[in-house]
Amino acid sequence: MLNVLFVCLGNICRSPLAEAVFNHKVKQADLDGKITADSAGTGDYHIGCDPDERSINVALKYEIPISHKGRQFHYMDGKNFDYILAMDEANYRNIIHELGDKHQGLYLMRDFDPEGKGDVPDPYWSDGDGFEQVYRILDRSIDNFLKFIKKEHNL
Ligand code: 4NP
Repeated sequence: MLNVLFVCLGNICRSPLAEAVFNHKVKQADLDGKITADSAGTGDYHIGCDPDERSINVALKYEIPISHKGRQFHYMDGKNFDYILAMDEANYRNIIHELGDKHQGLYLMRDFDPEGKGDVPDPYWSDGDGFEQVYRILDRSIDNFLKFIKKEHNL
């Protein structure tokens, strides 16, 4: 089983949406017996919380099931996950700090974006459109990431 973890700051906006989009694509590709996913936040503000309702709404718009309870990133995640995808540079640095060294499966989400590198912008303080933009970035980046791991692991 391949284990993939999506990480942002609060674990209520970007990473639970990424987890949901990824799970949906994994299921469509008939790979749900081979790949699992989870998400976590580097911050501790929203432990136990459901995803932000704006992330839920954008997932519903695209008919993607979404369900997660916020949790904080933990150094054991470095042992338990094959891939860790950070939504932005700050998350990326915090993950390295928590793990103490570079995890070999650690990437920025947008390393897989065919339309450009950089951060998945934090939509927390934005209006609804910020969430639509995040969804579009995740949708195309995750397509590409899935292609990458299928090739890498002969799935
Ligand atoms: P996320 O968004 O990292 O995409 O879940 C945020 C959620 C909450 C906060 C910041 C970002 N916050 O400061 O509470």
